[in-house]
Amino acid sequence: MAEKDRDADVIRLYDQLVEIEQRLIPTGLHVFGRHAELKEKTDLLRMVASFDRPEHGTRALPKLVAEALGIESYDALLQETTASETKDLIDSIVFEAVQHFCRDGADSAVEWLSFRVNVDRAQSLPIFLLLANITKQLDSNNEIESLLGALRGEYILPGPGADIVQNPNVLPTGRNTHAVNPYSVPSQRAFTRAELTADALLRRHFEERGRYPRALALVLWGLDNIKTQGEGVAQALHLLGVRPVRDALNRATEIEIVPLKNLKHPRMDVVMTVSGIFRDLFAPTMALLDKAVRRVAALDEPFEMNYVRRNIAEKMDLDGGEFDDAVGRVFSNAPGNYGTNVNFMVMQSEWETADTLGDLFVTRKCFAYTRDSKGRTIEGREARDLMDHALSRVEATYQNIDSFEVGITDVDHYFEYLGGISKAVEKRAQARPAIYLSDSLSPQTKIRSLEETIRLETRAKTLNPKWYEGMLQHGFRGVAEIENHVANTFGWSATADAVDPWIYTEVARTFLLDSEMFNRLQKLNPHSVSSLTKRLIEAHDRGYWNPDEEVLERLRDIVGDLESQRAERVSA
Ligand code: BEZ
Ligand code: MG
Repeated sequence: MAEKDRDADVIRLYDQLVEIEQRLIPTGLHVFGRHAELKEKTDLLRMVASFDRPEHGTRALPKLVAEALGIESYDALLQETTASETKDLIDSIVFEAVQHFCRDGADSAVEWLSFRVNVDRAQSLPIFLLLANITKQLDSNNEIESLLGALRGEYILPGPGADIVQNPNVLPTGRNTHAVNPYSVPSQRAFTRAELTADALLRRHFEERGRYPRALALVLWGLDNIKTQGEGVAQALHLLGVRPVRDALNRATEIEIVPLKNLKHPRMDVVMTVSGIFRDLFAPTMALLDKAVRRVAALDEPFEMNYVRRNIAEKMDLDGGEFDDAVGRVFSNAPGNYGTNVNFMVMQSEWETADTLGDLFVTRKCFAYTRDSKGRTIEGREARDLMDHALSRVEATYQNIDSFEVGITDVDHYFEYLGGISKAVEKRAQARPAIYLSDSLSPQTKIRSLEETIRLETRAKTLNPKWYEGMLQHGFRGVAEIENHVANTFGWSATADAVDPWIYTEVARTFLLDSEMFNRLQKLNPHSVSSLTKRLIEAHDRGYWNPDEEVLERLRDIVGDLESQRAERVSA
């Protein structure tokens, strides 16, 4: 191997290790009524301090450190994809400052930073005062009192629902969570961030496939758009090449077209599948998105610069239909219905060919939320043919991750949505789409492929002793969480063929073939161990993984042993 290639490989490996190391992972489960531990707090506070927070009059701590070190553009440094000693230096100074804060308080951290790199005290102090306030709120916990109060029918103070890093005002917990004013979405901040993310998404696709996708499928969730104040919505608008406009009451109800000459890319066709929760919470936003697509489709622009217009014209040519029957791009469940059921089908191993999963997704989600030719609102009309056609043009699917607490292998909902739609596209477009994710967890806007994200989550969580030991402190429930992660990982094989075989190998090695670990797990929760083992065998049977025969034998023995033990317990 040439020396240059080797160096590049080492740097790539280094970057990946740093990424895993810096990933904020929840260690253990939240116990209702109990406050956070110190070690979790340090990581959390470091993340909180990493963002500009104009609403609190504070700037990002890494930025202050960078400026004190004489670095011109910290933002440019952040977006760089390769390793950098400067970035490491900044991170380590921030980390140490937060440690000082946790140990000795705000003044001490301010002094240390001023002494270490000459950070202006007047700028760093407000950050640490904010952290002090957050710490105080993390240390108090009224969850049980509030629950009892609510059960007695008492008034419970309201508080916003969001992620702590996104919005520290969610603290203290144990309040009556309120969601969002849908008319406020997307916020200016969400729109600014979305521009960076959407551009990065298109850039990545272009680099990988040599062109922009003919159409994109986006998954929009309710809770996600609450927490990010509409980043997903803003991404869709940006891809279409439009901006939201606010009316006299400051409500985002109108659309402004960004002229082609000001766009970095053609107007993208976006097929949006929104969750039932999103539909229920964000009716005005759905109308805004529908309006945006209609306005863009009606623009007199060349097809090569306006993919919405091109795809809709194609559909009208194909079946001689009307504009209003071809333009719907906002899909969800039938009114009153929720979810795709793809997760249930996968978990119960009840599908024969992968197409079944994609077809189920469309059956559940092909209800268009749009308007008719007279401008009357249509709230969920079955439009399978329209969705089939829209998906047949899709070459990339995408979803935003909104919180460090819940990632794509923590719950079955990511694979039911992003996996489900990707499988639906694969059949309709006759090609597997590129599948991307990004997260709103860090100040960086980084696009990852699904495969990269699964590797990262597997390394940071499922196979990370820090994560699974944290889970195992919760005994029975912890083993169930490990099993859940493996099942959800399996869901990505089922819907998107996106799991490297080594992941199954390492899961087997870590939890089942290591006799000490196996015995611990079996004592705590034999039921979950049995499910986990069966899942790995199923992964083999479905061709996702090809272990050595002796490994397979061992797995089958485990299942057999656990079943006979269970039978003994039942008959005893
Ligand atoms: C949502 O926030 O829309 C959502 C949450 C969980 C599962 C599916 C959707
Ligand atoms: Mg669930």
